[in-house]
Amino acid sequence: MFEKVATAPPDAIFGLNDLMARDRREGKINLGAGVYKDEQGKTPVMQVVQEAESRLLEKQASKSYLPIEGLASYDRLVAELILGTQHSRWQRGEGVVVQTPGGTGALRVAADLVAGHAEPRSKVWISTPTWPNHPKVFASAGLEIRNYRYFDAARNGLGFDAMMEDLEQGSAGDLVVLHGCCHNPTGVDLSAEQQVVMVDFLAQRRLVPMVDFAYQGFAFGVEEDAAWLRLMTERLPEVLVASSSSKNFGLYNERVGALTVLAESPKASAAVLSQIKQVVRANYSNPPNHGAAVVAMVLSDSDLRQRWLAELAQMRQRIQDMRRRLTAGLDARGVRLHADGNGFINQQNGMFSYSGLTRSQVHALRQRFAVYAMDSGRINVAGITSSNVEPLCDAVAAVVQD
Ligand SMILES: Cc1ncc(COP(=O)(O)O)c(C=O)c1O
Repeated sequence: MFEKVATAPPDAIFGLNDLMARDRREGKINLGAGVYKDEQGKTPVMQVVQEAESRLLEKQASKSYLPIEGLASYDRLVAELILGTQHSRWQRGEGVVVQTPGGTGALRVAADLVAGHAEPRSKVWISTPTWPNHPKVFASAGLEIRNYRYFDAARNGLGFDAMMEDLEQGSAGDLVVLHGCCHNPTGVDLSAEQQVVMVDFLAQRRLVPMVDFAYQGFAFGVEEDAAWLRLMTERLPEVLVASSSSKNFGLYNERVGALTVLAESPKASAAVLSQIKQVVRANYSNPPNHGAAVVAMVLSDSDLRQRWLAELAQMRQRIQDMRRRLTAGLDARGVRLHADGNGFINQQNGMFSYSGLTRSQVHALRQRFAVYAMDSGRINVAGITSSNVEPLCDAVAAVVQD
């Protein structure tokens, strides 16, 4: 059966982790995979998560299956977290939510739902560049992929006009994958004005947003980061949202996320839910409990919730601080990553920065200095700490000035 199977290339992100694990040098710097790191360079279990886990362990009485749609309290609390507690369409029953194995699971369930039921048949529009798993997930479900321009290297920012020009080629019912905040890999988001223009455009063209919301709380705050998504769900008849608790609860390996779908009527959304359940049942049957139970406990307990928001704010501020330290360190060495200087690093949102480093500079950083970044030049700013920022700036200066 497998005699003639060709070897597939390693995954761009996980492959880099493997490469780094094999590197025996001291002082390696990991700016690759999108996980948060603290000042010690560790990906910690959040304190509030530890607290919830110990409470759960005490009261847990069964490990029986969850329903296909997951833990009901998680579903409701996550819908409220992303949509707000006063969402009129949600209250009218126009929205449904299912717990999924991570944000990736939500994207895949959405892709299968759209591939199986969208009429007319949808194409999927994804940004250039995007998270490398987007095209794989949607193509695996059999959907046709189209790209829209997003990042404009010349201005080191968003090419909004080009983005709109490409999306004008979309047909009614096409799915447009939008990053809810903290665009991965660029860190470049739409301005508030551009968000409004985009929503009007989607409404006029009857394009359906598939919002990938993996980083809620990493740009400005949990509520602030949801503003665009909420505008879409208020103004557009159909919206799909893949949210994740991997990053903002640090629950990466518990695989917990959700797919939320708003449809035009309670009847349509109930039918959508029934089809989502078919997709899930035939795929992984039902989701794992632990991570969802932790999130539900934290979000439903006002003390734990406040502590979670405070820990998340600290994470966000540490990343912003590291952006400033990196910029200052590069400026001090006379390194300019873009013709206009390094200021762009402080304007980007979330963990990632499209640094402007070329592929050969990234490779030189890896070979000469054990600094691991993505070939695209994407760096995970959360991998920078007070102790590695200066050596990092020295290394970048060496490869850029070569
Ligand atoms: C843009 C984007 N979407 C989705 C995900 C999926 O996250 P999860 O680990 O919850 O599947 C990630 C994770 O890196 C991401 O960066």
